[in-house]
Amino acid sequence: MTQSLIGAQKQELDTPILCIDLDVMETNIDKMATFMKERGKQWRPHQKCHKTPAIALKQIKAGAIGVTCAKISDAEVMAGAGIEDILVANMIVGERKVQRVASLCRWANPMICCDHYAQVEPIAAACRSAGVNCRLMIEVNIGLDRVGINPGRDTLELAQAIDKLEGVYLGGIMGYEGHLLDIPDQDEKRQKINEAMGVLVDSHEKIIASGIECPVVSAGGTGSYQITSDCPGITELQAGGGIFADPLYQTQCMLKNLDCSLSVWVTVVSRPAKERAILDAGRKTHFPDFHMPLVKGIEGAEVTAVSAEHCTLELTGAAQDLQIGDRIEIIPGYADFTTVLHEAFYGFRGDRLETVWPILGRGKFQ
Ligand SMILES: Cc1ncc(COP(=O)(O)O)c(C=O)c1O
Repeated sequence: MTQSLIGAQKQELDTPILCIDLDVMETNIDKMATFMKERGKQWRPHQKCHKTPAIALKQIKAGAIGVTCAKISDAEVMAGAGIEDILVANMIVGERKVQRVASLCRWANPMICCDHYAQVEPIAAACRSAGVNCRLMIEVNIGLDRVGINPGRDTLELAQAIDKLEGVYLGGIMGYEGHLLDIPDQDEKRQKINEAMGVLVDSHEKIIASGIECPVVSAGGTGSYQITSDCPGITELQAGGGIFADPLYQTQCMLKNLDCSLSVWVTVVSRPAKERAILDAGRKTHFPDFHMPLVKGIEGAEVTAVSAEHCTLELTGAAQDLQIGDRIEIIPGYADFTTVLHEAFYGFRGDRLETVWPILGRGKFQ
């Protein structure tokens, strides 16, 4: 149905819808790909900000080697679109999921994260029965204190245990420096990231010294890759959200040289006071908790409150000309939790609708 809207002007479309400025997103993708290439790193962008194979394929066309996913169901969606090199940056636990890993190995080349032998053994058993060999990625705790095995000896011992098992083999090690993204002092941020990456690289060196192959050392997110990519020994980066370059990354993580490409097309539905306007898009349409949305292109309009179905703007100056029925754009503060609220992205070239992409990974939690 929505495909019949293609070619329409934005002003003709009903609200709220989730929009991508395709020119800006494509420029962001090219800039990220070039940035990694110039630093001799591979790019394996996390797909959690878009969950959409059409966008992942654009990233791969620009130079990405594959994708990073959070769940086996995300990986299945990406594999269904023909993407083979898929990191599942999460632990896979449970009989059914382990079977799905083994099945996925038949039509893609996943790499599954682990931080304990108890996750590894069932995957190896399922893969042996299926007659496949699955790549594993050891996640090391480099300070985030989320998942992740202790660096050093514990990491080496897990690598050695994997090496002895049939049905799996070691593809790499990773760590995520998510605890260091919003350090305001950029020298301190660089120093702390260097230290965290040093811990990861040191564990990698121990594995290599023991004679076990371990080709990949993976890290980095949008809030850190512009620093992490300078770290020696890191082979690839998982930064994904930079393609939308949300206000959160720009203001709290000091992301540079990328522009916001995501917006929500909304309508002014009420003007209860001269200095107040109400939009038809609340937190069921966009996620304001980490960073309030910005109003695009209207000086003097600021989002001050967001409830379930309403968004409140405070207006000063010329912004007070806004009228009931006007359609405007807001830039969501954080893309990941906004994307999952929508069925589709509406991709615009200038003001014309060029494509509608169903968000195929939406609802894929397993
Ligand atoms: C394992 C992992 N890698 C990478 C990222 C970075 O993703 P993004 O670049 O979209 O911020 C995250 C973010 O939560 C993550 O959990």
